[in-house]
Amino acid sequence: MVKILIENQITEMNKEEFKCIVNRYSSVAVDIGTGDGQFIYKRAKQNTDELYIGVDSSIDNMRMCSTKTTKKPSKGGIKNILFVVSGVEDLPDEMIAIADKITINLPWGSLRDGIVKGDEVVLHNIKKISKAKTELSICVTYSTNHEKQEIETRKLPTLSIDFIRTQLKQQYRACGINIDDAYIWNNDMLKKLDTKWAKKLAFGKKREIFYMKCVVMD
Ligand SMILES: C[S@@+](CC[C@H](N)C(=O)[O-])C[C@H]1O[C@@H](n2cnc3c(N)ncnc32)[C@H](O)[C@@H]1O
Repeated sequence: MVKILIENQITEMNKEEFKCIVNRYSSVAVDIGTGDGQFIYKRAKQNTDELYIGVDSSIDNMRMCSTKTTKKPSKGGIKNILFVVSGVEDLPDEMIAIADKITINLPWGSLRDGIVKGDEVVLHNIKKISKAKTELSICVTYSTNHEKQEIETRKLPTLSIDFIRTQLKQQYRACGINIDDAYIWNNDMLKKLDTKWAKKLAFGKKREIFYMKCVVMD
């Protein structure tokens, strides 16, 4: 069953109900660790023939946006958006092979850890919800200047382009995901991402943000 957050309530949808919604749209974009959901909300408003699915383990983060989407269109209501309550580690089988595009913006916690450590469960789950050749965009940031304690406690690898293009690339490939390229964004480039956390971080201390452009293999 897929747990869909509608306002303050979780509704469980079975495979048929979920597929019925998915099949109404020309394509599906999934944002994992969506947080307040604004990133997908803005895109969903502009592309009404595409379905946008925000996934987050935290109900609290998605609640406000989910509530807005149920209002009248004049008050911000839209139909082509769903909020799924799930950790990336437990993505439901109903989501198998639905995503044309996946984004993971500024993850923290176990989502970030899985992404930067190339965790097999996390990567297999991302692959599981992808179609062939799904685009996967990831941007992640931490550094010893600002997150020293977190890096030590969670045993996070030192991020660098070299680390991504060598070690992480191999781990991703083993799970069916190709890291096509990796770049470093600065604070100004991060502003363009236009998410709540992008704004928070971009207007804060100077930092390097690692952007990975990936494609899910057939
Ligand atoms: C820093 S926030 C970023 C939110 C949003 N992407 C943005 O850019 O504003 C990280 C989000 O990842 C979610 N998260 C952390 N671990 C997760 C996991 N294992 N599965 C799904 N979401 C997770 C958190 O609940 C949080 O909403």
